[in-house]
Amino acid sequence: VAETSLKGKKVLVTAGPTYESIDPVRFIGNHSTGKMGFDIAEAMADKGAEVILVTGPTHMKNRNTTIKNIKVESAQQMYDVCHQYFDSVDVVVAAAAVADYKPKVVAAQKIKKNESTFTIELEKNPDILASLGERKKQQYLVGFALETENEIEHAKAKIKKKNLDLIVLNSLNDEGAGFGKPTNKVTFIDKDFNIFPQELKSKEAVAEDIVNKIKEHYEI
Ligand code: C5P
Repeated sequence: VAETSLKGKKVLVTAGPTYESIDPVRFIGNHSTGKMGFDIAEAMADKGAEVILVTGPTHMKNRNTTIKNIKVESAQQMYDVCHQYFDSVDVVVAAAAVADYKPKVVAAQKIKKNESTFTIELEKNPDILASLGERKKQQYLVGFALETENEIEHAKAKIKKKNLDLIVLNSLNDEGAGFGKPTNKVTFIDKDFNIFPQELKSKEAVAEDIVNKIKEHYEI
């Protein structure tokens, strides 16, 4: 029997990297595989939620036909799609590894190798999650934090800055956690700064834990 505890809830999940064009054939990207976000989308759908999964370029395949997968490339495109759906959703889980910066100018033609050094000027991308935090009404907002030092303090600051309800902290100091690995070790911190350290688990199991944590919010 399918679990339906999130039936009637609409969830927006972001996943994967973003690609920021330099010219028609080159981009700035990162090593995010998108797996964590895909697993969360799947776990949400398994509990009966209506899921919109906004993904940057990734090899991951969405095999769940009930999930609406919207594919984008750049942070700006991801921003636009998230804002388009935001009013109608109950939960946002921002698992995408959004590029912090993008080339200020995108060359119209392929850049030639003439000079011995070459400089690309970058400008800040919009912070998608923070911008949703500013618009927040009923939505329960979940962000990720990947930190290498003073993890808890940085994560708490992020909760405040982005107006989040929950943050999932990945510490790079934990073996088996983070990018490109099948496992993850996370700590949940809620908006009241309660801290819930979790065990090292498969990303599927971590996704299940994240969804169960979000579910608690609707079970009061
Ligand atoms: O500030 P930082 O990049 O560490 O925050 C990470 C969280 O914010 C993640 O949930 C990520 O998906 C989200 N984020 C975003 N837009 C950005 C940068 C990060 O939505 N431009």
